[in-house]
Amino acid sequence: MHELTVNGVQIAFERTGAGAPLVLIHGFPLDHNMWDALLPHLEGADVLLPDLRGFGGSAIVDGTYTIADMAQDVIALLDALKIEKAAIVGHSMGGYVALEIARKVPGRVAGLGLVSTQALPDAPDRKAGRYATAEKVGDQGSVVVADSMAPKLSADPQHVSALHKLILGQPPAGVMGALAAMAERVDSTELLSTFKFPVAIVHGLADALIPVERSREMKALIPQASLTEIQDVGHMPMLDAPFETAKALKEGLLGG
Ligand code: MLT
Repeated sequence: MHELTVNGVQIAFERTGAGAPLVLIHGFPLDHNMWDALLPHLEGADVLLPDLRGFGGSAIVDGTYTIADMAQDVIALLDALKIEKAAIVGHSMGGYVALEIARKVPGRVAGLGLVSTQALPDAPDRKAGRYATAEKVGDQGSVVVADSMAPKLSADPQHVSALHKLILGQPPAGVMGALAAMAERVDSTELLSTFKFPVAIVHGLADALIPVERSREMKALIPQASLTEIQDVGHMPMLDAPFETAKALKEGLLGG
């Protein structure tokens, strides 16, 4: 694991492989380890796996967390590593961060991978639910989201206990910060049609958290996008179907 202080925050990251730069941004409430099963299938890429602020080995930041700050951390990490342009792949909350990177620095995006995510912001009831969950996490710890989310993340029961453990290891302050960041995220729908780079969208048809319709709506607004829908796979296609997920990302973003 490496560490660098960028954008005023100590960010931990893994880097593996050689080839075209490819950034994998984890979802909520996880860290870079969630991508492990995908890595053997990503030959030919220089893969950068950051832990977002408040997660994994990265620092817990005082004050408000925003998706824009998380995006700026990743951009600053690319600056520090002198990576001018990279394919940016985000899973779920990581997709919100990836969309924000594309909004801020489109010229540095070689391609965008959107895995089990959406361009829409939270509806009011979802937003209120996030703040209620954050309050519970403040009282009881990350076990609140480990118990509620682990069974919903994968359609495969064998992954549930590993995910539960990974979530339990995340600092409550980071989990609470990210809940607020997701609740306050902006609508990215209008951004989609401005994209000039390749876009690869991947969604499991058994996703219990974000319905596949959100990916179909994004695809309809991005003429050059590919959409890979995977049967019998839940919110984490990189775990449930790593080969198909890597294939879709490589064909869509790395030219094969
Ligand atoms: C995620 O998997 O990152 C989250 O479930 C996304 C969300 O809650 O909007």
